[in-house]
Amino acid sequence: NTETADFSVDEEWIKRIFRPRPDFSHKGLYGKVYIVAGSFGKMGAAVLSTKAALKTGAGLTFTVAPECGYNILQISCPEAMFIKSGDQVTSKIEIEDNSVFGIGPGIGADKETQKVLLQFLKEYAKPLILDADALNIISENEKNLKLIPKNSIITPHPKEFERLFGKSADSFARLELARQKADEHQIYIVLKDHHTQIITPDGKVHYNTTGNSGLAKGGSGDVLTGILTSLLAQGYSEEDAAVFGVWLHGKAADYAAERYSKESMLPTDLINELGTVFEKIN
Ligand code: APR
Ligand code: MG
Repeated sequence: NTETADFSVDEEWIKRIFRPRPDFSHKGLYGKVYIVAGSFGKMGAAVLSTKAALKTGAGLTFTVAPECGYNILQISCPEAMFIKSGDQVTSKIEIEDNSVFGIGPGIGADKETQKVLLQFLKEYAKPLILDADALNIISENEKNLKLIPKNSIITPHPKEFERLFGKSADSFARLELARQKADEHQIYIVLKDHHTQIITPDGKVHYNTTGNSGLAKGGSGDVLTGILTSLLAQGYSEEDAAVFGVWLHGKAADYAAERYSKESMLPTDLINELGTVFEKIN
C-alpha cells in the first residue's frame, strides 16, 4: 500500500453523508433487506438485527431463519416478513437490484448451515454484510475468503478477526493486517472495538468516535448488522454505509447510556434510540 489516509468520523462528516427522506417517496426507493439470522435458542439475534434494519429506514425487510423462529419473528417484528431458511431465497437467488443481504447473527455453524452458506457465496456476487457465525464458518478454511463478494462489509470483533486472519502482536499490527486483507480481498472491514475502525479496500481508515462500554453486552453486534444492511439497501455506498452505520450505532448507544446508564441499557434500547439520532441529524 503506497497511499493511506486516516479519518476521524464526527457529526459534520455524518451530516455530509446523510440523505434526508424526500416527501415524495415510496418504499421502493428504500431497498429490500434480507436478514439471515437466528437458530434454535438464538432467535434474539434475528429479532435484534431485523428491528435495527426496520428502525434504520429500509423499505421492506425480510428475515430468513429456521422454522422455529416463525412465531417469534412474526410477533416481535410485525413489519418484517418471514422466509423459512431453505425456501425461496437460498434456492432462487436472483434477487432485485436494491436487495441486500446481512448474514450471520446467531445462525450457528453446524454442517448444514456451513454447506448452505458456502454454496450461497459461490453463487452470489453482490456486496453484502457478513457477521458473527457467517465469519466463523468462513474462518474454517482460508480458501473461503475468496468467496466473499467484492465490496462486501465484514464486521468481526477482535476474536472473529483473529479467526479469519490470524493473530497480531498488538492493535497497530492488527490494523496493518486489516489494511492488507481489505486490499487483498477488496472488502470493507469493520474492526469492532471501543473505537471501531472501518478499513476500506483502498487503504483508508475511518476511526469512529461514538459508543461506550454499555455496548459490551450480547446482542450489540447484531444491532449493527441490521443497521448496516439497511443503509446499504437504501443506496448508500459501502464506505458511507459502514462509516454512517457504525457512527449511528455508537451515537444511539450514547443516548441509551444517558437515559438508562451503561449498566442497564440493552441492545433493544439502542434500537429505540435510533430515532433520537435521526432527529438530531435531520
Ligand atoms: N466500547 C464501545 N463499543 C463497544 C464496547 C466498548 N467497551 N464493547 C463492545 N462495543 C461495541 C462493538 O464495537 C460492537 O459494535 O458493541 C458491539 C459488539 O459486537 P459483538 O462483539 O459482535 O457482540 P455481540 O452482539 O455480543 O455478538 C453476539 O455474535 O459475534 C458473535 O460471538 C459473538 O456470540 C456473540 C454474538
Ligand atoms: Mg457479534
